[in-house]
Amino acid sequence: MNNLLMEVENEIAVVTINRPKSLNALNSETLAELNQCFCEIETRKDIKVVILTGSGEKSFVAGADISEMVNATAAEGRTMGLLAYNAFGKLENMPQVTIAAVNGFALGGGCEISMACDIRIASENAKFGQPEVGLGTLPGFGGTQRLPRLVGKGRAKELIFTCDMIDAQEAYRIGLANKVVPLAELIDYCKKMATKIISKGSYAISLAKSAINTGLDVDLSSGLKLEADLFGLSFATADKKEGMSAFLEKRQAKLTDF
Ligand code: HXC
Repeated sequence: MNNLLMEVENEIAVVTINRPKSLNALNSETLAELNQCFCEIETRKDIKVVILTGSGEKSFVAGADISEMVNATAAEGRTMGLLAYNAFGKLENMPQVTIAAVNGFALGGGCEISMACDIRIASENAKFGQPEVGLGTLPGFGGTQRLPRLVGKGRAKELIFTCDMIDAQEAYRIGLANKVVPLAELIDYCKKMATKIISKGSYAISLAKSAINTGLDVDLSSGLKLEADLFGLSFATADKKEGMSAFLEKRQAKLTDF
């Protein structure tokens, strides 16, 4: 991979988008590599949590690569949009938990890839925004769909229509960031959260993630029905037997992730 770094340790994969000269902007090659990377991760049993970040101390991802888009045709723009649709969809729906460690600018496609993660932890210097309409286009990597689902229709429209950049505290206030931490502590904080998540039942977490993601795309009654079905499915696992037995026997559960 030319534009990504990946380290796996203690069942945590840290994936770093590594194009610091362009503030980790996403070009087509990087989008294709992200797709390939997420396809690999979703099949790996030795990875339970993915932390996605950008290289350097200034930027998470400063958006899609404007130098690549400037002369692109409508068909090429659509191809780029579909590359992101596939890669971000994989990221959003993989069975592992995904945490965006937002270490600076998360603009345009950068804000959009962070929103495809389950959780966003922002460093104090992080800045979020959707500047696309100022470039004569619109958020094309999921921003018009994921942003309103996260922060509500009114706030999403304000951010997209004004192109305002908001700081980490404001992102936290509106529910775009789950937590704000000092930059120097960002990756450690994410790893600690990952370790806590890994200590729970990974298969149960993947079922809960599936219920939440699919449930938000369907009507309430269908979502509740799906939840009941997945709740039933969890009763077929050793973890459910062990988790509940351990509680009744007043001991620590030894979960095996199924
Ligand atoms: C290509 C980029 C880039 C980008 C920064 N760079 N963002 N290159 N695409 N999105 C490059 C700059 O050209 C510059 O290259 C180098 O990175 C450093 O950036 P500077 O602008 O010099 O840094 P600074 O003055 O600190 O400003 C930081 C910044 C600014 C505020 C983040 O770079 C910026 O506004 N970037 C664009 C942000 C944006 O509009 N993103 C949305 C893109 S559209 P050189 O060679 O000069 O050193 C998008 C659409 C998604 O994401 C959907 C499409 C289908």
